[in-house]
Amino acid sequence: MSLLEIILKRRSVRTYTDEEIPENKIEKILQAGLLAPTSRNRKPCEFYVVKDKEILEKLSKSKASGSSMLENANTAIVVFADSEKADTWIEDSSIALAYMDLMANELDIGSCWCQSHLRFSADNKKSEEVIKEIFSMDSKYRVVGILSLGIASSKPEGHNLSEIDESKISYF
Ligand SMILES: Cc1cc2nc3c(=O)[nH]c(=O)nc-3n(C[C@H](O)[C@H](O)[C@H](O)COP(=O)(O)O)c2cc1C
Repeated sequence: MSLLEIILKRRSVRTYTDEEIPENKIEKILQAGLLAPTSRNRKPCEFYVVKDKEILEKLSKSKASGSSMLENANTAIVVFADSEKADTWIEDSSIALAYMDLMANELDIGSCWCQSHLRFSADNKKSEEVIKEIFSMDSKYRVVGILSLGIASSKPEGHNLSEIDESKISYF
């Protein structure tokens, strides 16, 4: 499949079956995150692979809304970034998440980005702090987001080139 075909096929998937994701596919998704470019090649990201149901449930409550899919996910990958290694932790984490999201789609694994940075839990705690407490992380770590993964129980149609809004492009 070409990169454009993968980009068109990629959709956010939030409902999953109880099936296990094959281990080799998780490895490939992690390879995509670890191979993502980072500013000055600082590589500040660390990838926490979560299969434990209790932790998945806690992560699903890290935000007031938009994180419930994590409760029924087979696996979640929390991307922690060491903000002392790179002041570009937001960019570096985002690119890693996007690469892993694309790789999951290429492998027919349902995936969805769950935003943590700038979000709050139902009891008004910073989502990042809720997540860091779960794993007892040092304060230097930051969390842009979590990738939720599972075998899709339903998947929206892929994107189409006709959706592109060409008015957003300017040539000079
Ligand atoms: C930065 C970013 C944050 C996102 N955060 C969430 C989120 O917290 N919860 C969620 O269900 N989807 C989240 N998404 C998924 C978007 O809602 C989704 O990509 C968008 O609606 C387009 O749909 P598609 O991915 O199926 O093309 C996020 C996506 C991005 C890029």
